[in-house]
Amino acid sequence: QKGGYDHYMRKEIHEQPSALRQALGSRVDVNAGTASLDVDFPQGYLESIQEIQLLAMGTSYYAGRYAATLFESLADVRATPIMASEYSYTGGRDPWRTLSIAVTQSGETADTLGALREASAAGARTMGVTNTLGSSVTREADDALFIRAGPEIGVAATKTFASQVSTLALLAIAVGRERGALSAAAAREHLEDLTGLPGAIQQVLDEEDRIRETAHELADSDAFFFVGREYGYPVALEGALKLKEISYDHAEGFASGELKHGPLALVTPETPVLAVLTDGAHPQETLNNVAEVQARGAPAIGVTSGTLEGGTLDEAFEVPDAGIFEPLVANVYFQLFAYHIANAKGRSIDKPRNLAKSVTVE
Ligand code: F6R
Repeated sequence: QKGGYDHYMRKEIHEQPSALRQALGSRVDVNAGTASLDVDFPQGYLESIQEIQLLAMGTSYYAGRYAATLFESLADVRATPIMASEYSYTGGRDPWRTLSIAVTQSGETADTLGALREASAAGARTMGVTNTLGSSVTREADDALFIRAGPEIGVAATKTFASQVSTLALLAIAVGRERGALSAAAAREHLEDLTGLPGAIQQVLDEEDRIRETAHELADSDAFFFVGREYGYPVALEGALKLKEISYDHAEGFASGELKHGPLALVTPETPVLAVLTDGAHPQETLNNVAEVQARGAPAIGVTSGTLEGGTLDEAFEVPDAGIFEPLVANVYFQLFAYHIANAKGRSIDKPRNLAKSVTVE
């Protein structure tokens, strides 16, 4: 069942190239600069919307954050990621002009379904982005978009994060084209980067031995901090969540610029900092923040595009060219890092303590 792997989580990390081929394959026409998603919006609907909300929890919420930035920059539409359990207290302003997207791997998360119902009752059009055919979200939302990642057994979400972001990227490109916010040439470029992701991620997977060594060297640290900007920020949050879930170590993700506004007080030689320093994450700016933690003795591990000027990282990992999706590729290093720390500690990786795969209570 685990196909020769010790854990489903590691198997699922390694399934990302094939999962992404399934998510993207038949939907993308790179030459035409189009993505087709089997979702029929009413005529003129996409031009009329003023806001896209992304309602989700946990890893899906971080995928929603990545997607929100994609919608803002590729489709020029206000996009708001909302932690679904907070939806009742924040809501929206103009439901008739809002598309509310519930992002949920299982399609059964109670908090996310609750937010979706509220959005729908207020008059918003709703969509479910899910991995699970026939799940509650597919029945309740006006439209469903499948991420086609294949079953995910490990409690910690891995391949579904990559598939959620990629599928939502296709939607952002489609919306951007429809609204006239994205040129055909720009759409082609992003679609090329997306279709290159399986190969790019495979190259990261091929570096597993080296990230395993780094993980083992740092396993006994007091805490781990992850930092990034723009598309690197949700990946920093996700990197920290993965590590805390399966290793039970203290880990936190920050926007790089946030460090000196408080968290820097936590930084010591015993708190490694893992930074997203790729394209799509403003690496040169983050490098300044990395220098600040290094001045406090913290080991700095960076994932780069291979083009950084200045600064010396204690350990550097590279991702192949993938434009604004490079942070998504960098995330695979973080998944492997979390996995190998947890494995070195003998944790129950596929079923971490206190957690369930699908949280059906609020
Ligand atoms: C993290 C994780 C959880 C889920 C969250 C939402 O590894 O698995 O944080 O992401 O419970 O689950 P879905 O996507 O099923 O709504």
